[in-house]
Amino acid sequence: MSAKELLEIMSHGQFVSGVKLASQLGVSRTTIWKQFNELKEKGIEFEKVRGKGYRMLGGGSVLRGEWLKSALAMSEAGSQLQFEVVQSIDSTNSRLVDSSGSWDENKYYVLAAESQTKGRGRRGKQWFTPYGKNICFSLGFVFTGNIEKLEGLSVVVGVILADVLCEYGVNDVSLKWPNDVYVAGKKLGGILIELTGEFNSRCAVVIGVGLNVDVDGREGFTIDQLWTSLRLEGYAIDRTDLLLSFIQRLVDGVGKFLNSGSATYFNQWESYDYLRGKLVEVHGRNVIGVASGLKENGCLILKVNGCDYVLNSGEVSVRLSDG
Ligand code: BTN
Repeated sequence: MSAKELLEIMSHGQFVSGVKLASQLGVSRTTIWKQFNELKEKGIEFEKVRGKGYRMLGGGSVLRGEWLKSALAMSEAGSQLQFEVVQSIDSTNSRLVDSSGSWDENKYYVLAAESQTKGRGRRGKQWFTPYGKNICFSLGFVFTGNIEKLEGLSVVVGVILADVLCEYGVNDVSLKWPNDVYVAGKKLGGILIELTGEFNSRCAVVIGVGLNVDVDGREGFTIDQLWTSLRLEGYAIDRTDLLLSFIQRLVDGVGKFLNSGSATYFNQWESYDYLRGKLVEVHGRNVIGVASGLKENGCLILKVNGCDYVLNSGEVSVRLSDG
């Protein structure tokens, strides 16, 4: 019995008894139990309930990988797109960065995962991706122009994610500079953009997106800020559908951004801007000011004693000030 066979049977998220699994897969119940333990080490976790059997932790279903593959292949950008979905990986961003040396120009590489064991957030933080619960993917491409042309990319990505969520009926979506997606004033997801290679000749751009869909807090992770998930906000949105929309819209939007810049997205950012008009504090610096929108290059403008204080997204983070 392979892990893949076991995962296939468990993919619908319903309880399956150990006896049934053992007979279906032609192995002993101990072998099944051992396989679940091995999967757990890879971040793929199942729960066992007495009298019912095993199921994916907290229920839920896995991504429909083959369906996604064919839907993407049939979409406008299909021929330019290489897509893969994996069960477990260290980090989709790291994996794309590592493979980027062999990428073709004019192609997009998308890697999605059901779980990550070393998911990375901004500023060296850990990013939790429990199995089968969230949206987790990276989109990569080769960029050959002047690196300054990429300024504003994170604004474009944020606006696209926010637009898609609104189209799925999610209310109170906002974007917290530079890379956080908020719903009802709590963090729903984040974006991690990484560049590697020769700047100003051939570099690879990797856009990582992590978004809480079905996590409800019982998955055994801690996050040092106020967070939420679509499920916790009362939305039952199919992860596969949502992932397809994100990928299609991002490929389309990134293409447009590379050809014609980010001006239209900047106007939209204003309508999603979580910080605008709020008093914010810059982490690690003695600066407090009123958030006053973005510069054309994506930098945040703070009004400090009547003057503009401009912040580059780099390693800076801001939080609301108490007073
Ligand atoms: C943040 O808010 O700190 C950014 C989080 C980005 C997480 C995503 S999940 C997919 C991709 N792979 C990673 O290791 N990180 C990004």
